[in-house]
Amino acid sequence: MQKHCLAGVAQHKIEALNTNLRGFLKQIVAIYPGSFDPVTNGHLDLIHRGCKLFDRLVVAIARNPEKDDSLFSLEERMEMLKAMTADLDNVTVDAFEGLLMTYCIENHANAVLRGIRAVSDYEFELQMALMNRKIEPRVETVFMMPAEKYSYLSSRIVREIASFGGPLSGFVPELVEAHLRRRVAQKRAATSEIPIK
Ligand SMILES: Nc1ncnc2c1ncn2[C@@H]1O[C@H](COP(=O)(O)OP(=O)(O)OP(=O)(O)O)[C@@H](O)[C@H]1O
Ligand SMILES: [Mg+2]
Repeated sequence: MQKHCLAGVAQHKIEALNTNLRGFLKQIVAIYPGSFDPVTNGHLDLIHRGCKLFDRLVVAIARNPEKDDSLFSLEERMEMLKAMTADLDNVTVDAFEGLLMTYCIENHANAVLRGIRAVSDYEFELQMALMNRKIEPRVETVFMMPAEKYSYLSSRIVREIASFGGPLSGFVPELVEAHLRRRVAQKRAATSEIPIK
């Protein structure tokens, strides 16, 4: 019956109706925040899924100058992310400091993209999403799941494997692997210069 009624409605009227229903959500701009230290194939899987769903996707590296023990500098992380997303027209890379919700509003974003790997992610992500909603109800958090093969992958585990010279192929792109090998070698060289007492 519904189908039959709609069949007679002009296309432009349907579009007007959709615009009204979606309101200011008609352009969906999403922020994908994280530390990306470094970007993994799991992050990239999510970015590829997200850019199909949103009109624009901003991958935003969170800066925490007070507690910065990251392996790569902000500039290095940004450079790797930009190289790996260069072919995606609606994806940009940025950095931010402070409250994620403030950054969202400043950038006219109406969604936050987060990834759920295993149950262990859920509790922390739920707490964050609910707190963010309390701070800014106009921004929705959207959770996506990666391909199964990436569901155990994290930057931390990649850093750990790299530090022991283990295999990285399939976990990170070749460019990121090269950066990781170089950084580990630099760190080794720096520590071997310290005389052992
Ligand atoms: N393999 C993955 N599959 C799906 N989502 C992921 C994956 N890795 C990270 N994410 C998601 O990306 C977002 C940013 O995560 P983050 O930059 O902390 O990566 P991470 O791999 O968890 O790094 P770290 O191990 O340093 O905490 C989070 O929502 C996280 O759940
Ligand atoms: Mg993490």
